[in-house]
Amino acid sequence: MLKGIYSWIDERLDITPLWRDVADHEVPEHVNPAHHFSAFVYCFGGLTFFIVLIQFLSGMFLTMYYVPDIENAYKSVDFLQYNVAFGVIVRGMHHWGASLVIVMMFLHTLRVFFTGAYKAPREMNWVVGMLIFFVILGLGFTGYLLPWDNKAYFATQVGIKIAATTPFIGSYLQTFLQGGDIVGATTLTRFFALHVFFLPALLLALLGGHFYMIRKQGIAGPL
Ligand code: HEM
Repeated sequence: MLKGIYSWIDERLDITPLWRDVADHEVPEHVNPAHHFSAFVYCFGGLTFFIVLIQFLSGMFLTMYYVPDIENAYKSVDFLQYNVAFGVIVRGMHHWGASLVIVMMFLHTLRVFFTGAYKAPREMNWVVGMLIFFVILGLGFTGYLLPWDNKAYFATQVGIKIAATTPFIGSYLQTFLQGGDIVGATTLTRFFALHVFFLPALLLALLGGHFYMIRKQGIAGPL
């Protein structure tokens, strides 16, 4: 039955070469921890991606309860945490995942740096990686405000004040981030939009480029 469905689709869309390309692609020996244990450092990028997927999934479930306005944000998070079945687990995954993704991304960057994998012809992927780095930090910064508790509010004040010290564009950046003159209702709406639409979309596009380049250029090494 499944075979029938598969060949029906394959006849029309010729999908076999697509997955064959991935399935038949050999893993080079120097990146395979089964050959040399130290090759586990080459798994850091994939592990970072795994946590990114967890963040996407847990975040999607959080938005089923989260209400992005200053009256209800805190209450909705409180309700999710203490009254919704598995809410504490889903929120916990998103909370701890947010820190873990940064740790893993940092380890991955160290691997790329110390194996010299950023050198020609992979310079562009290093640059795309740097952009990904800032997008992930942006996701952390915007997500932190969403529970709208005291910690979130004052941490965001500090973060925005730091951004305001940027030479020349500081005050514009501050107004842009706040959505006005103070950290308030407009800031929460804006951070929510950045956190669930703009930055994830940007991240997906950048990761698409990252993976395309890895596939085209192959993995660097052996050393
Ligand atoms: C969400 C963040 C990121 C994810 C999911 C990710 C994912 C990956 C994956 C799966 C690989 C294949 C090799 C490996 O796993 O080590 C890779 C390679 C690479 N990444 Fe990332 N990456 C991220 C962030 C970064 C950052 C911040 C940089 C540097 C600024 C970077 C630069 C590179 C480069 C240059 C390669 C090619 C390395 C080689 O060919 O050996 N990546 N990335």
